[in-house]
Amino acid sequence: MGGSRNRVEVLHGVNLDMLGRRDPEHYGELKLSELERTIKGYARELDLEAAFFQTNHEGDFVERLHRLPDAADAAVVNPGAWTHYSYAIRDALELTDLPAVEVHLSDVQSREEWRRHSVLDGVVLGVVSGEGPEGYRRALEMLKPEITQ
Ligand code: DQA
Repeated sequence: MGGSRNRVEVLHGVNLDMLGRRDPEHYGELKLSELERTIKGYARELDLEAAFFQTNHEGDFVERLHRLPDAADAAVVNPGAWTHYSYAIRDALELTDLPAVEVHLSDVQSREEWRRHSVLDGVVLGVVSGEGPEGYRRALEMLKPEITQ
């Protein structure tokens, strides 16, 4: 094993491919491709290797999680609205048995009531919300000590 455990997959769920067209007040101006480039830079600074996945199909997200232990040592997940109700995604994330951090670009606690609840509670080792793209750096920093020694 040693120091080669540095692969982090960043999984974006439903509607995150629409970044750049969604309300900039909540989600900023970056398109998903630009956000991913930014995250890749954060990962490089931390000696981590970032890979990316996005889908609008819940079953595809679940199946990506099923395969994740072969491809990654840790996960950053922003499942979008699925965060608030998809027990299927919660179960699949738990099944990976990988350290995971949940990220939201917007501050979900200060928005509608239904966004305050995350079904990932108890499966992720932390949540970063409302910090925009910087939140992904924070998530990578939280994961690094979990996978490298
Ligand atoms: C989001 C917050 C969710 O409530 C919302 O449904 C999203 C994006 C965020 O990154 O702030 O699609 O996960």
